[in-house]
Amino acid sequence: MTNQRVLMTAVGSYLPANVVTNEALSSFVDTDDAWIRRRTGIAQRHLVADGETTSDLAYHAATKALANAGLAGGDIDLIIIATTTPDNTFPSTATKLQHMIDAKGAIAFDIQAVCAGFVYALDVADAMLRSGRGRRALVVGAESFSKLLDWEDRATCVLFGDGAGAVVLELADDAGDDAGDWGIRSSVLHSDGAYRDILYVDGGPSSNAAVGHVRMEGKEVFRHAVEKLASVMDEALSAANMQAGDIDWLVPHQANVRIIDAMQKKMDLPSDRVVRTVEQHANTSAASIPLALSAAVDDGRIKNGDVLAMEAIGGGLAWGAALVKFGRPL
Ligand code: ACO
Repeated sequence: MTNQRVLMTAVGSYLPANVVTNEALSSFVDTDDAWIRRRTGIAQRHLVADGETTSDLAYHAATKALANAGLAGGDIDLIIIATTTPDNTFPSTATKLQHMIDAKGAIAFDIQAVCAGFVYALDVADAMLRSGRGRRALVVGAESFSKLLDWEDRATCVLFGDGAGAVVLELADDAGDDAGDWGIRSSVLHSDGAYRDILYVDGGPSSNAAVGHVRMEGKEVFRHAVEKLASVMDEALSAANMQAGDIDWLVPHQANVRIIDAMQKKMDLPSDRVVRTVEQHANTSAASIPLALSAAVDDGRIKNGDVLAMEAIGGGLAWGAALVKFGRPL
């Protein structure tokens, strides 16, 4: 393993065209806009169309990220897709994407850590690049999460949406002198299967051969989220020798605006330093962090050289945090 830095040089994202507002949802779910907004901060979500798959979403996000990096599929050595909603049980959605973008020589596989999938994939890609498995990686969070929803369960079906985001990671050039504090500064992951029953899908190939639906004890998940995200962020800051005040942007997993607000408070960050997309995207699981990052880069808030804090928690429980100085030294 080298001490070389892994840079996050570009991002891209994609949302399906079909937007479903809370009002529209209320026409077939026993809920209302005021309840959803008050408890979650969500106003709308994007949902895949019939026949639109996770690999389609991943493809659009990946091609935008590649274009923003000035790269082609053939330049990529490693593709990791974080997803809980693959096109098929196998092969991996990443191998499908590899073919779609013509990244012939790349290693490609999926990672399953539900809503924490993006921070897990980032950590694995960082380690693989630094251990010599290639120089450039695509890390994608892509979900058709609506496929796992029970539309009769109003406590879960209002929370989620579909979409994809992708980042390009590049090993800093050995000849490059000044990559010192750029790129992935620290990354910390945790899992605890003792809590697997508070958030899970009641189906799977080896249990009942069904796709299944999301089941959740919302209050319990909420409690663990606030506590575990705060503590893993402390670990990531300490691993990078940094303090919350060194962070330019919190780019959190977008599950619930109340969880995001709690983190902002714990980190004592000004509200305008937190990227919030949950209102427009709802919870897109592994896609939510790169979707939020992409939105804030596209609208000019996040700039080359900004220091980002990312954190996420989801089923498992699995959770993690990463600190990244975004972009590349100019
Ligand atoms: N519309 C209207 N009423 C509803 C709805 C709905 N969609 N859903 C539940 N209710 C009702 C319940 O029936 C209940 O009614 P009652 O008091 O008459 O029995 C009432 O609202 C309160 O229900 P709770 O489930 O106790 O509501 P709570 O305040 O816990 O909010 C929520 C639920 C929003 C899910 C919250 O627990 C939460 O955000 N948890 C975090 C979970 C999360 O974000 N999960 C995403 C995946 S994991 C992750 O990404 C971190």
